[in-house]
Amino acid sequence: MPKLIVVTRDGTERTIEGETGLSVMEVVRDAGIDELLALCGGCCSCATCHVVVDPAFADLLPPIDPDEDELLDSSDARVALSRLSCQIPFDDSLDGLKITIPAED
Ligand code: FES
Repeated sequence: MPKLIVVTRDGTERTIEGETGLSVMEVVRDAGIDELLALCGGCCSCATCHVVVDPAFADLLPPIDPDEDELLDSSDARVALSRLSCQIPFDDSLDGLKITIPAED
């Protein structure tokens, strides 16, 4: 299974394995990391699954659609590499992807 590296808010780095076909949000949630609230369950309407992605993987991710872009704009913690993790399908091409959970809004 592909690996996902998660940096939590206290700077701790954890490497977890994720099932292909889940979203990055689901992989994080299933690993028991509770810093991503993911309140809407992945239907792109809450922005509580905000992560910052490793620049090395930015080109491999699906483009940001207008709804995701608008939701990310509602976060004070948004940076150039911000994404909503429920909008990133996890698969072998993302093996080794590193994401950082930003400060809570
Ligand atoms: S879980 Fe709500 S936008 Fe991602």
